[in-house]
Amino acid sequence: MHRVHNFSAGPAILPVEVLQKAQEQLVDYQNSGSSIMEKSHRGAEYVEVHEGAIEQLKQVLELGDDFEVMFLQGGASTQFLSVPFNLLSENETADYINTGAWSKKAIKEAQAFGHVNVAFDGSKESFTRIPRQDELHLNADAKYVHFTSNNTIFGTQFATEPQTNGVPLVCDASSDFLSRPINVKDYGIIYAGAQKNLGPAGVTIVIIRKDILSGISKTNIPTMLDYRSHAGAMFNTPPVFPVYMVKLVLDWIQEKGGISYFEQFNQEKAALLYNTIDDDDFYRGTAEISSRSLMNVTFRLATEELEQRFLKEAASHDLMALKGHRSVGGIRASIYNACPMESAEALASFMKDFRSKNG
Ligand SMILES: Cc1ncc(COP(=O)(O)O)c(C=O)c1O
Repeated sequence: MHRVHNFSAGPAILPVEVLQKAQEQLVDYQNSGSSIMEKSHRGAEYVEVHEGAIEQLKQVLELGDDFEVMFLQGGASTQFLSVPFNLLSENETADYINTGAWSKKAIKEAQAFGHVNVAFDGSKESFTRIPRQDELHLNADAKYVHFTSNNTIFGTQFATEPQTNGVPLVCDASSDFLSRPINVKDYGIIYAGAQKNLGPAGVTIVIIRKDILSGISKTNIPTMLDYRSHAGAMFNTPPVFPVYMVKLVLDWIQEKGGISYFEQFNQEKAALLYNTIDDDDFYRGTAEISSRSLMNVTFRLATEELEQRFLKEAASHDLMALKGHRSVGGIRASIYNACPMESAEALASFMKDFRSKNG
């Protein structure tokens, strides 16, 4: 078996133990004579997987009984639309914090439904930082405050939740979901595509507080986008294989010691890379230091030519998928939960070596 050091931003590396477990069970799930993909989603075996995953997610995040967990399709991008479709009406306002390309997409969708107050606009500073609390122009009457907890493209991350004086937070947590503890009680909705920190592409996790759910009164929501269709019970065929994989990843997270284990582990990996960047000015981190992401470490070298050489040589050392997002260029190392310490170490060591040869 040959596994590279995989720094892909998403779909991203999965724990090798999870892939092996899935491989073991693929053809004949628990001696049932068929795979989990070939069974009714209403049958006992799949229902156990589905409900087990919901229960485990509740435990890992300490959600208690105040939240519904749903496994939907359409990616986080569909949630950009579903959130305002369910929560925002024409004469109402929602606050959106614009910290990058994904926030911008969420804003665009919401503008079709009601008034969007952009509480902070990071575009003026090329999205290099997260706003301070005192920079947020929040609206006391807002239906919700939307933020992107981690900006996958720009390598920035909120260190803590924005304070909203009781207005529920709606969070696109696609690229840092389950990477650290959160203040659950501040959230109305948390959504995330699974393909970075939680499983393969094809399932979107949506967590909604029950009082927000029961407060939805709009009548024009298409059935598949209406949260009320999906909460509490499966409405239609869920993405059974991705949900099964999510369940295996949740087992793995719990075996490792839960979210607090990953908080520490992710801090250690990120520190290794940021310390290497900060050693001198050969590498230049693109995010302001206080806004740096623990999930996506973004940096530049002196010239694009040198960056190309860096990527090429890195690949020859099995250090893969380090190219920055096509919209910003540079280098990006995505080091989600499943990225092992050895990969961060191998990258840091390659960076030092490359610097000594080219600096
Ligand atoms: C923060 C964030 N939000 C949303 C998306 C879009 O997710 P999807 O492709 O699941 O629609 C991404 C994808 O990379 C992302 O990083």
